Amino acid sequence: MSFANSHEIITNQDGLNENLDDIVNKHLAHEFRKPYQQHSIDGFKSVEQEIARAGKPIIFDSCCGVGDSTINIARQHPEHFVIGMDKSGHRLNKNEAYEQHGVDNFMLLRTDLNDFWRLALEAEFKIDKHFILYPNPWPKAKHIQRRWHGSAVFPTIVALGGELEMRSNWRLYLDEFSHALSIVGKSSDVKEFTPEPTITPFERKYQASGQALFQLKAQL
Ligand SMILES: C[S@@+](CC[C@H](N)C(=O)[O-])C[C@H]1O[C@@H](n2cnc3c(N)ncnc32)[C@H](O)[C@@H]1O
Repeated sequence: MSFANSHEIITNQDGLNENLDDIVNKHLAHEFRKPYQQHSIDGFKSVEQEIARAGKPIIFDSCCGVGDSTINIARQHPEHFVIGMDKSGHRLNKNEAYEQHGVDNFMLLRTDLNDFWRLALEAEFKIDKHFILYPNPWPKAKHIQRRWHGSAVFPTIVALGGELEMRSNWRLYLDEFSHALSIVGKSSDVKEFTPEPTITPFERKYQASGQALFQLKAQL
């Protein structure tokens, strides 16, 4: 008997989800109109202020978790302002992070990206790069619409533009995202890769348990 590593993906899909094309096309045909939550609007306003203050080109670090990747990306891109966003409450205190890491070209925001991305698009944000590192996989076939490419906000992710980089320990997630991009006429590359250095806690955890890691890149 073999046991799956505790962090390994266990899925009942053996290829691209059979409903992927229909779902993506449905979301392309119908605008996502869910009303914004007030705290999303308030958070967005604070981002607009920070961006105006920073006066630098923008990088999104979406689903940033505790924000380690945000700080790493900020350090790697000193000429950019990096916005790390996550819906969970594990926000780093900005000042603490500044003292600890010696970079100040970033901010962290607790927000639901289903709102934030649409608000950013409406405000005509121009983003240079967009990182979505280790999004929740939702590996059961019936949960396809919880994956970003199966969600109603997928067309917004594409329309935001920039150079997209996604990472996952589940190749099929990225293959599906890549396929969804092809439906909107965007090409992308998916490959296995070794991050050097690792920049997120999940990345470190997966690598430490010997799992293969994958990367998708696309110019949107
Ligand atoms: C698997 S964790 C990866 C975190 C981090 N990128 C890392 O690699 O360590 C996925 C993250 O996506 C966030 N997330 C999921 N749905 C979200 C949403 N709608 N808006 C904002 N963040 C979301 C979760 O809160 C969680 O922190």
